[in-house]
Amino acid sequence: MIPNIELNDKKSIPQLGFGTFLVEPDQAERVVSEALEVGYRHIDTAAFYGNEEGVGRAINNSGIPREEIFLTTKLWNDRHEDADVALNESLERLGMEYVDLYLIHWPLPRNNKYITAWNTMAEQREKGLTRSIGVCNFMPEHLDNLVTSTDVVPVVNQIELHPWMQQKDTRATAKKHGIAIESWHPLGQMKKDLTEFPAITDAAEAHGKSAAQVMIRWHLQNGLIVFPKTNHKERMQENFEVFDFELSDDQMSAIEAMDQGDEGRIGFHPNERE
Ligand SMILES: NC(=O)c1ccc[n+]([C@@H]2O[C@H](COP(=O)([O-])OP(=O)(O)OC[C@H]3O[C@@H](n4cnc5c(N)ncnc54)[C@H](OP(=O)(O)O)[C@@H]3O)[C@@H](O)[C@H]2O)c1
Repeated sequence: MIPNIELNDKKSIPQLGFGTFLVEPDQAERVVSEALEVGYRHIDTAAFYGNEEGVGRAINNSGIPREEIFLTTKLWNDRHEDADVALNESLERLGMEYVDLYLIHWPLPRNNKYITAWNTMAEQREKGLTRSIGVCNFMPEHLDNLVTSTDVVPVVNQIELHPWMQQKDTRATAKKHGIAIESWHPLGQMKKDLTEFPAITDAAEAHGKSAAQVMIRWHLQNGLIVFPKTNHKERMQENFEVFDFELSDDQMSAIEAMDQGDEGRIGFHPNERE
């Protein structure tokens, strides 16, 4: 039911997954277990989220074969020079022998160590500790630098992307290199007053769907990989029920017209994150 996206290393990833940023460590096992019950088979976590233990317990106790679940974790910013140790620590917390995808969480261009981290991650992939490797929050210049400085192209770039900030330049650069895009804050964290955005509410009304479902559908129809987060099982179900309707070209264009470029940013700018 969930489509797969083929990555540039020939692995594939479920296009719809489940995010775990701000899922408290003591809630993670319950929340991820419920997401797996709903049907999600792609879970996105990070060392920085502090919830890898609970995420790993939920997966390991689910009874679902490990190979049926796609698990991503990420290298935090203070570990660019010892990624080998950092991944082993994540695997230990997860109780796993490998992850499906390991990502550099932020480029930290001022530190200029992401190439060091990347070379280590390429070795980790050779050792089978991670099946695929990628990056987050890389701007076009970081992507170009990584690809020209090393022989290893990231499979994904996970970036802030939602109707208010659509990242057209970074998406074009990623496309040039054959890198898939994952959208974070895909719902704008549901922080906006959506009554001010009829492109979303009109489409929701026309399809008998919620605003969240319309936004998830917009990511999917743009070929983006998306993993909304929620602590609530009924919302997990809601966010999963997005394959029984289709936004029209006009509805897609109306949401595209909401783009505010950099003005629409909610999270950190990649060059400013420490
Ligand atoms: N690489 C990076 O730097 C980075 C940064 C941020 C996020 N991420 C990843 O991307 C994932 C998704 O982004 P995000 O969690 O920041 O933001 P998001 O998915 O856009 O929004 C999550 C918020 O929306 C609410 N929500 C979810 N579904 C809803 C629904 N159907 N109706 C109403 N409210 C709903 C949740 O509330 P409740 O939980 O209360 O239901 C939560 O407050 C993260 O979890 C994480 O895995 C990566």
